[in-house]
Amino acid sequence: MVENMTGMKRTHRCADLTAEHVGKELVVMGWAHKRRDLGGVIFIDLRDISGILQVVFRSELDSALHHKAEQIRSEYVLAVRGTLVNRDEETINPNLPTGKWELVVKELRILSRAETPPILIEEGIDTNEAVRLKYRFLDLRRPDMQRNMILRHRVAKIARDYYDENGFLEIETPVLMKSTPEGARDYLVPSRVHTGKFFALPQSPQLFKQILMVSGFDRYFQIAKCFRDEDLRADRQPEFTQIDLEMSFVEVSDVIAMNEGFIKRCFDEVLGIQLQTPFQQLTYNEAMERYGTDKPDTRFGLELVDLSDIVKNSGFKVFSDAIARGGSVRALNAKGCGAKFARREIDALGEFVKIYGAKGMAWISVEENSLKSVITKFLAEEETNRILEKVGAEAGDLICFVADTDDIVFDALGHLRLEIARKLNLIDDNKMNFLWVTEFPLLEYDGDEKRWVAKHHPFTSPMDEDIDLLDTDPGKVRAKAYDVVLNGVELGGGSIRIHDQELQRKIFSRIGFSEEEAKDRFGFLLEAFKYGTPPHGGLAFGLDRLIMLMAKASSIRDVIAFPKVQNSSCLMTGAPDVVDVKQLKELHIAIKE
Ligand code: AMO
Ligand code: AMP
Repeated sequence: MVENMTGMKRTHRCADLTAEHVGKELVVMGWAHKRRDLGGVIFIDLRDISGILQVVFRSELDSALHHKAEQIRSEYVLAVRGTLVNRDEETINPNLPTGKWELVVKELRILSRAETPPILIEEGIDTNEAVRLKYRFLDLRRPDMQRNMILRHRVAKIARDYYDENGFLEIETPVLMKSTPEGARDYLVPSRVHTGKFFALPQSPQLFKQILMVSGFDRYFQIAKCFRDEDLRADRQPEFTQIDLEMSFVEVSDVIAMNEGFIKRCFDEVLGIQLQTPFQQLTYNEAMERYGTDKPDTRFGLELVDLSDIVKNSGFKVFSDAIARGGSVRALNAKGCGAKFARREIDALGEFVKIYGAKGMAWISVEENSLKSVITKFLAEEETNRILEKVGAEAGDLICFVADTDDIVFDALGHLRLEIARKLNLIDDNKMNFLWVTEFPLLEYDGDEKRWVAKHHPFTSPMDEDIDLLDTDPGKVRAKAYDVVLNGVELGGGSIRIHDQELQRKIFSRIGFSEEEAKDRFGFLLEAFKYGTPPHGGLAFGLDRLIMLMAKASSIRDVIAFPKVQNSSCLMTGAPDVVDVKQLKELHIAIKE
């Protein structure tokens, strides 16, 4: 038999108490977290979202009540009325915020019984994630998950406050929209009314927010669900949330300053961390040259060094040939690793770079009075000396080289840099290194499709001084695009948009959209642009990623209440699932086996 709450009204949350409540009668409700039965006395740790309060049943005070309390098991839902008292000095629990007190119960109601939960309702459990996700309703009872959700709520609240205070309006945009190529694969929704036609779920509200600028809203923001059918990773979900915004009459520096302000406020109010602004800014080229990636983790050095000049005529063909083919030779100086790493570990690094397409990793291990390496015999002494000087080699160092196209060299060394930093424990978990990466290339060449494609999206404006290069050297055109990066994770990105329909047409044609196709896909945007378009630009933060980093979680799944797993399914609900034949029929869809 379970009871109801009639006549019993919750007065407090379990842990929202202060010394002033001592001696008062309170009613608290929650889950039986732990139960200790010492015979004549039963202690229950009662848990709710605020924390834990110890409640006590003593048979000497009320034996019927004590007898009733004997039924209580883990995760039973209870309502208790009692008096808050100070614990004896020696029974104070310093690990609990309410550890000085306990509630001496006068009335108990068992509101719900529970089977033994399949996972522990505890902080930091090491249960298999698939089991946690199947029983997400229990997993979400755990204090660390609840803290993550609270943190997420607070950041969303600050976003609403901050952007509101700065004149932004929150405007919702459709979830059922027209499919527009935006990079990832669309999720499609068949239309029942229009046979053979489909809605797409938005990969972002990009086109709508630009149209809102045309409509004169000036500053728009939204906490928006986005959907992308792509391969998942620890920081990628098929549906995720953006803090999305757009501003009129702005330049790159305005968007950057506005959004730094938001991040600063979040970290201050939620984590008590005072961030220095303005954040560091690196151009894309500089980021690639120094870190091999457009999302550098700057919590440690270990920067790339370009050795192409030194070895372009080298007798070591691996090096000189790579340069002759238009590539480069770059190196990392892994300080102290020559002395530290066994040959086997160095060989493992050589295998590691192959993941990123490198053909190998040449290396020099610098010893006190000699060099250990298989490549020095191919290098002129002068080349070797200049290399050692340029990378700042000292005894004990390990110089790691990759020669290939720039793309492969950057990718391989960029990842090797992280791998070595992890191995050497160079990464300080307490650092929060924000930076902006600016001046991204506007276009990149798609070797498969044999055409130029937009690196960000086709509405991104080229830099004024590079517009002429569109016809002559498209790969060199820089964009008014920027990403904000935290500790090596891309947190957000955006751009100043093209607001001139002529230029927009030109870009479409540059990326291989015929007039026809452009009109078909984005006609509504081009149409809108005809009637007076303010210069505008914006940005979107990945809210899930921001919370992941603020919570120091290792995956965005830990900061999303109901996430999907690697194969894009939901282990709790079983979605996606088959549907009724009747539903398919209405949609004129037949499933081919
Ligand atoms: P972009 O595609 O760079 O830009 O997305 C913005 C930010 O969203 C986050 N993000 C993701 N988070 C989780 N799972 C995913 N699959 C995922 N994909 C992206 C990242 C990323 O930085 N409309 C433009 C923004 C603009 O130009 O204003 C856009 O969507 O943190
Ligand atoms: P090889 O002459 O092919 O035996 O290579 C000599 C050394 O150079 C080996 O340690 C290889 O791992 C390394 N190596 C081979 N190809 C490359 C490359 N593209 N970049 C850097 N090192 C390489």
